[in-house]
Amino acid sequence: PPPPLIDPFARAIRYLRVSVTDRCDFRCVYCMSENMTFLPKRDLLTLEELERLCGTFIRLGVRKLRITGGEPLVRRDIMTFFRAMSRHLDSGALQELTLTTNGSQLERFAEGLAACGVRRVNVSLDTLDADKFARITRWGRLDQVLRGIDAAQAAGLRVKINTVALKDFNEDELFTLTDWAASRDIDMTFIEVMPMGDLGNEDRIDQYWSLRDLRARLATRHPLTDLPDDTGGPARYVRLADTGQRIGFITPLSHNFCESCNRVRITCTGEIYTCLGQEGHADLRAPLRASDGDAPLEAAIRAAIASKPKGHDFDYARQTVAGQVSRHMSHTGG
Ligand code: GTP
Ligand code: 5AD
Ligand code: SF4
Repeated sequence: PPPPLIDPFARAIRYLRVSVTDRCDFRCVYCMSENMTFLPKRDLLTLEELERLCGTFIRLGVRKLRITGGEPLVRRDIMTFFRAMSRHLDSGALQELTLTTNGSQLERFAEGLAACGVRRVNVSLDTLDADKFARITRWGRLDQVLRGIDAAQAAGLRVKINTVALKDFNEDELFTLTDWAASRDIDMTFIEVMPMGDLGNEDRIDQYWSLRDLRARLATRHPLTDLPDDTGGPARYVRLADTGQRIGFITPLSHNFCESCNRVRITCTGEIYTCLGQEGHADLRAPLRASDGDAPLEAAIRAAIASKPKGHDFDYARQTVAGQVSRHMSHTGG
């Protein structure tokens, strides 16, 4: 087998996040502007190109594949792609196939995903209040997402909820959210809002609710035990000692986790981003289209990994936007 992908800081790249579309049926205020212009279809990698690209990464040692967007389930014929990826699970080359979704289409797709070997889904959900949900997503319907979550659980998928911690928005729902998740045996992760996209008139520094504070509030009601940092992901977990529930915190700003980063990201146009919090990227679409042989593509992937930066430099703590990244989160899929 070819040598695995190792970056200059001795981090092995085993986790690939692939955005299959920049489109989304929601417009979460911290993610997209209201009048986003989406890419013309011809700029997107075809599903066949995505299959070949992912297959190459798997051959180079990627063991976990997460499909993102935009909203991955709004891409036409997306199940064809999942079926193709499920063959890498069957062969044992791939250990995990999963996705991050807003849940709006899960009611329709949950069973099909489970049939493709998907075991877990991460669903974004910031509030359990229908009006607030419509506001934060600009027009999304909470009941549709809740039905999607039901369908996922009914299909046997393990559900994890991602909640972006937003000051003056969901601070008051902390216990509502954790109680709801506990009652349904759903894991939760809170995420610090990151300075991505054009801030426009919505200054994200004002939305920043530190997870240190969130955690302290949680501790006023539940005894917390730290769990060992062994998931290979960015989240650190605590257990609520009274209920047994596991809660994760993703804190790129107040505590970065770059030293153990095991991932790279592919956009729907075939760019590789080696760090979520940096602008550096390289094009894989040209080498992908250059020939049927994988050599140019593999060389381009290795060159990109060789330039993976040590870490990001988001810098909220100092109340500056030095680390502001102008691309939208939907471009790289989080
Ligand atoms: P699992 O650990 O497999 O559940 O997934 P995950 O947390 O890696 O994936 P998910 O898509 O649920 O990620 C949730 C969010 O965490 C992302 O959308 C980002 O906002 C943030 N995140 C994930 N990976 C990184 C990373 O490498 N760097 C930073 N700064 N944030 C990340
Ligand atoms: N900061 C933090 N999280 C974000 N997400 C989207 N934009 C941001 C941001 N600016 C989250 C979504 C979803 C995941 C894919 O990324 O809520 O859970
Ligand atoms: Fe869509 Fe997710 Fe961005 Fe919300 S955060 S607009 S659901 S891609």
